[in-house]
Amino acid sequence: MKSTKILILSLLMLFSYTISAQQKPTASDQKMKVFIDGLMKKMTIDEKIGQLNLCGAGDITTGQTASSDIGKKLREGKVGAILNLKSVEKIRDVQKVAVEESRLKIPLLFGMDVIHGYETTFPIPLALSCSWDMSLIEKTARIAATEASADGICWTFSPMVDIARDPRWGRIAEGAGEDTYLGSQVARAMVKGYQGNDLTKNNTIMACVKHFAMYGAAEAGRDYNTTDMSRLRMFNEYLPPYKAAFDAGAGSAMTSFNELDGLPATANKWLMTDLLRKQWGFNGFVVTDFTAINEMIEHGMGDLQTVSALALKAGTDMDMVGEGYLTTLKKSLKEGKITEAYINQACRRILEAKYKLGLFDDPYRYCDANRAKTEIGTEEHMKAAREAATQTFVLLKNENQLLPLQKKGKIALVGPLADNIYNMAGMWSVAVDHNQSITVLQGLKNTVGNQAEIVYAKGSNFVDDPQLDLNINNTIIPTIDSLRTSQQLRDEAVAIASKSDVIIAALGEAAEMSGECTSRTNIQIPENQRELLKALLATGKPVVLLLFTGRPLDLSWESKNVPAILNVWFGGTQTGNAIADVVFGKVNPSGKITATFPQNIGQVPIYYNHKNTGRPIDAGKGGWFTKFLSNYVDVSNEPLYPFGYGLSYTTFSYSDLKLDKQKVSSAGKLTVSVTLTNTGKYDGSEVAQLYIRDMVGSITRPVKELKGFQKIFLKAGESRTLNFTITPADLAFYNSDLQFKSEPGDFKVFVGTNSASGLEAGFELIK
Ligand code: NOJ
Repeated sequence: MKSTKILILSLLMLFSYTISAQQKPTASDQKMKVFIDGLMKKMTIDEKIGQLNLCGAGDITTGQTASSDIGKKLREGKVGAILNLKSVEKIRDVQKVAVEESRLKIPLLFGMDVIHGYETTFPIPLALSCSWDMSLIEKTARIAATEASADGICWTFSPMVDIARDPRWGRIAEGAGEDTYLGSQVARAMVKGYQGNDLTKNNTIMACVKHFAMYGAAEAGRDYNTTDMSRLRMFNEYLPPYKAAFDAGAGSAMTSFNELDGLPATANKWLMTDLLRKQWGFNGFVVTDFTAINEMIEHGMGDLQTVSALALKAGTDMDMVGEGYLTTLKKSLKEGKITEAYINQACRRILEAKYKLGLFDDPYRYCDANRAKTEIGTEEHMKAAREAATQTFVLLKNENQLLPLQKKGKIALVGPLADNIYNMAGMWSVAVDHNQSITVLQGLKNTVGNQAEIVYAKGSNFVDDPQLDLNINNTIIPTIDSLRTSQQLRDEAVAIASKSDVIIAALGEAAEMSGECTSRTNIQIPENQRELLKALLATGKPVVLLLFTGRPLDLSWESKNVPAILNVWFGGTQTGNAIADVVFGKVNPSGKITATFPQNIGQVPIYYNHKNTGRPIDAGKGGWFTKFLSNYVDVSNEPLYPFGYGLSYTTFSYSDLKLDKQKVSSAGKLTVSVTLTNTGKYDGSEVAQLYIRDMVGSITRPVKELKGFQKIFLKAGESRTLNFTITPADLAFYNSDLQFKSEPGDFKVFVGTNSASGLEAGFELIK
């Protein structure tokens, strides 16, 4: 009887995890089908293939379409969508050619990398995840959609939901970090924010879930590199955030550059069809990443014609920029290498996306010049950006409560990031107007007014090595100071710093040092900046390190030598104001890191939810090294800062951990309660985290897994009882048969302030 119940439950779970969208077509689906059937009957094979072509915008200027090659292609129906074209006028102009001068007048999709805001730029995604605030994250995506749609965009290449555990990989900046559970929640929040409840509204845009799949597991953290992974790891750790985004209704997906199981993702039928569509029931369309089809030639999969056919047959619908589909599919069809059914299927999915966005009703739905004037960069959006940024900063160290600072005396602000508008927004800020960005200097001045004196010196270049300087810039313009030597820059800074009461050092990575193609083998603050930091510390004045970074860094030296470290990531257009809010204590920091900070690069990949090994080290018992246990001879296994870590100006204590039952059935729920108290002097928010450990399983289970969190604001001295619910799905995992089930046995539960500490209790899962 009990086992039948488990079986039914597991089947139900499996069902809900796999067949979510295989529902009966609704009346509006029927209507769409009739419309698209009718349209496709009129389409030639060339026009169908044209729909599969996503064209780069290059530098289309208004009016240019009249005579250019892109104009010719549009008229011939050889373009289905346009990439990264900015401005409502240009978009209207291009759309006009498509819907007025092409034979079938099919509207175009206009897609853009709207990654963390549009003109109003929010913190980079990794930073946003550190807020652990899903309604805030949804709001940032909502505002991004409002602004982008006001400027002609109806499709964003976001969210990026790739789990990343390797800080060498620069694109760790673009996702929600290392955790599956948190990553899934962020994925859902972003899709909801972009798409709202109704895609046909003119202020919602279609999400594109990327990069499908497993892009974040690139070997050695080198971008575009091979991934190789067991199915168990995929299903338990890497796939859930993609699945969560699709379940939230994301309308499209982007293939990843990496290979998987020996096949580039773009030609991986198991991924694009068997898993995505057949198991998960996804019914949107799949676009390649930039020239990913062409790149399969280098992967060693054949010539352009061959790889294009492979991609189409795998279930990849649209070709981003490479024109493999445009130039070879007709030939493949003639030669019997593909069937027309494949072209029809891809074309239909793209037309459906256009239909769902309401473009057939009104191709200019997103081209309202008045909205572009009134809904972009509004005061309200800037306010939201400022608030959002304050929620993403992570206080890593605060010796002797150096922070918050008082608005008095002389404050020296030093560093290459202190007064640099181009480096506030962070990577992938395609639509940003840097002139709107608030630098740290500006923000501090805005906040202190005449209550304190702020003195500034640049202090150092980002890096002193000219080649590295070029590699980490998105432009070919060197950023190394041509007027002053490094020594002169440093001397200037020390001169003002030594006459100040406190020093704020704005150091770290340049904005383009993370993001695409910015893998690093050394994840420390660049050497020359550390030299500056040493010189500032040598003045004997208190130093606050404002750390700009798009990835976890090796801060072993800084954590020992600098009294206060506030990690501000890249905070978007309002960075400077937000920093001032936190530095001077208007806002108490509450961010918690979502990717582990290692002690050094040699520990990478390092993540909290690892397996135990047969020879785990128990630091509590025998120190950090024991011969023949799983450890390193030179550093402990511990990270520098664990997942979920982050301080506050106040302190919190956890007490009274209680479970409402000791035994829970596999269909039952368990309530875990804990008392959280603000024991310090400041009001503040705490992210209380709940982890479980499945003690024995048919396959090995991680030492901890996040299964719940709550961000709670408490006044100084206030206490609150928090209740967490552990559901059957929280206890289940994919077993070796890839069935999603829980297994009876003992579990531990931990509730606390980060993944490495917390109160502990246990319960038993029974049949
Ligand atoms: C390449 C990137 O991998 C992808 O994330 C982005 O959306 C496309 N280029 C389009 O810019």
